[in-house]
Amino acid sequence: MSATLIKGTEIREQILEEITAEVADIKEKHGVVPGLVTILVGESPASISYVTLKIQTAHRVGFKEIQDSQSVDISEDALLALIDKYNNDDSIHGILVQLPLPKHIDEKKVLNAINPDKDVDGFHPVNVGRLMIGGNEVKFPPCTPAGIQEMIVRAGVETKGAEVVVVGRSNIVGKPIANMMLQKGVGANATVTIVHTGTKDLAAHCKRADILIVAAGVPDLVKPEWIKPGACVIDVGVNRVGEKISEKTGKKIAILKGDVDFDAAKEIAGYITPVPGGVGPMTITMLMLNTLKSLKFKLGLA
Ligand code: GUN
Repeated sequence: MSATLIKGTEIREQILEEITAEVADIKEKHGVVPGLVTILVGESPASISYVTLKIQTAHRVGFKEIQDSQSVDISEDALLALIDKYNNDDSIHGILVQLPLPKHIDEKKVLNAINPDKDVDGFHPVNVGRLMIGGNEVKFPPCTPAGIQEMIVRAGVETKGAEVVVVGRSNIVGKPIANMMLQKGVGANATVTIVHTGTKDLAAHCKRADILIVAAGVPDLVKPEWIKPGACVIDVGVNRVGEKISEKTGKKIAILKGDVDFDAAKEIAGYITPVPGGVGPMTITMLMLNTLKSLKFKLGLA
């Protein structure tokens, strides 16, 4: 058997088209568009490329977008003042501070300074709490877990009563996706297990999974024999395992590998996400959706 591929690149296009249409409609009726600011501190190439993609995508769907780049030496106080400025800017509905931040800046303090009603990353403790409560309380689900759930739903995979096993307990992926999958509602209502580096028998848990979500950051961690035949496998891992020359551009690019041994796993799974082109494109897409939602909350449309 060969698994059905769940392609984030295709789902992204569908959702971005939906967002573009909704932005145009709101602009016509209310004379306003969603505004997103991304704050980048320093010049890490990976962060620059992520932020550039976020801004390009915001532009594509018709948002007002600002990329605010700051020197690596910016003081914590100056960064907090900058966040305050955008908290008080009515044309901005989403504020994203690209992580990681330099060591001299307290990341927690910075994330806590963002107005929770503009926290489109969903990292503020208020939004983490809202996610935990579930239902109508949820305003901004964190982008990667929201993308994972969207992919599962759009692929038509049954989640109600499913055994979901999440590998990894990070605050950005593992903990929130586990929490989302156990809530009552569409794309959830599952029985959820989180496994991690302290788990005794990783393989035994994975073998039970109808939906296996792997966010461990270890290339090829999940072996084909750990996968239940027909299971839905979501690979969140993006591991740089080397470099190659791009056929398209002639430039050096990273060779990426997921946390799942894809070639072998696709013969056993019922559904599987590729790396790259799977979960990755969904994260920025859901950021756009959260920013649109932020404006809709403000206008009383959501
Ligand atoms: N760095 C890597 N991923 C993310 C993300 O989803 N949001 C932010 N703010 N920074 C990141």
